[in-house]
Order: sequence, then C-alpha cells, then structure tokens
Amino acid sequence: MIFSPNSPLQLDARFVCQFFLALLLTLSLSACVSSASKPSLYQQLGGEQGLDRIVEELIQNIGNDKKVFHFFADAKLSRFRTLLTEHLCEVSDGPCKYSGDSMEDIHTGMHIDEADFNHIVELLIDAMNKADAPVTAQNKLLARLAPMRKDIYRR
Ligand code: HEM
Repeated sequence: MIFSPNSPLQLDARFVCQFFLALLLTLSLSACVSSASKPSLYQQLGGEQGLDRIVEELIQNIGNDKKVFHFFADAKLSRFRTLLTEHLCEVSDGPCKYSGDSMEDIHTGMHIDEADFNHIVELLIDAMNKADAPVTAQNKLLARLAPMRKDIYRR
C-alpha cells in the first residue's frame, strides 16, 4: 500500500514521534531541575570547609572531655582528623573515597559502651552547631551514622 505524504497514518506517526520527543525533553529537563535544586548532604553541611570546621570542633570537644578523652589518648591526631573528615565526606555523598580502616576493625577492642557512643554523638552535635551546620543537615548526617553503632560499641 502506498501512502500519500498527508495520509492520516503518516500524520499519526509524526504526531506520536513529536509527542515522545516532547515527553523525553520534559523528563530530562525536570531531572536537571530537580538535581540542580537538591544540594547533596555534603553541600548542605558546607562542603569541604564545613566538614573541616565540624571535625576541628569535634576534636576540640573530645580534647576537653573527661568521659571520652582517654579513648583517644594514644591516637594519632593528624590521621584521625584526615580520616574522619574523609569518612564524613563519603557518608554525606561528597567527592571523597574513605581510605581508613573499617568501623568494625578500628573500634574493636576499645570496649566502647552505648553511653560512650551517645556521648560522642552529643559532642558531634555540639561541634555541628558551633560550625553553623543547619539542623536538617545535622539530622540527616546523624541518621546515616546511627546504623554504624553496631560496628562501634560492645566490641
Ligand atoms: C558514628 C560514630 C563514629 C564514627 C563515624 C567514627 C569514625 C572513626 C574514624 C573514621 C576513625 C579513623 C579510622 C582509622 O584510623 O583508620 C576513627 C578512629 C577512632 N575512633 Fe571512632 N568513630 C565513631 C565513634 C567512636 C566512639 C564512640 C569512640 C570512643 C568513645 C571512638 C573512638 C575512636 C578512636 C580512639 C579512634 C582512633 C584510633 C587510633 O588511631 O588508634 N569512635 N573513628
């Protein structure tokens, strides 16, 4: 069967083609808009500068704390600073790859209990407040760290 250029079937095919092209464009545009309007948790925490401040404040807090300082008495400060920053960066979807030991390996044998863990979380919250991290971003980070507790305490 031969169709003339304006046969209804050809028009239909062109219409369907245009419809799908428009749909594709709309979908890709909305994907762009939603990813552009949604900063990563890393960005919400202030990016590299924000995490540096949080870790620095946390280290100060630990250094001044009677309950948990003893755990860190023999730790290498520069290694801890670098690796904790890297870890928080990866956990918050930042552009880093954590290169330290697993949470389980590093904390096993320290005999950390639940109260110690909760206390470090309090010191972290205080550090995030001092570093002006927004509360919503703080809560998101804490929610991502919480499941790690099973690898950190009672080990
Ligand atoms: C969500 C909570 C925690 C996270 C994300 C975390 C993360 C880390 C990271 C990334 C390191 C560096 C790993 C490495 O050196 O390869 C580290 C080291 C360490 N962590 Fe934790 N930690 C947490 C909780 C705790 C708690 C509750 C304590 C003790 C009360 C603790 C005590 C230590 C100590 C003492 C070191 C240094 C070990 C060393 O260098 O010999 N951590 N932690």
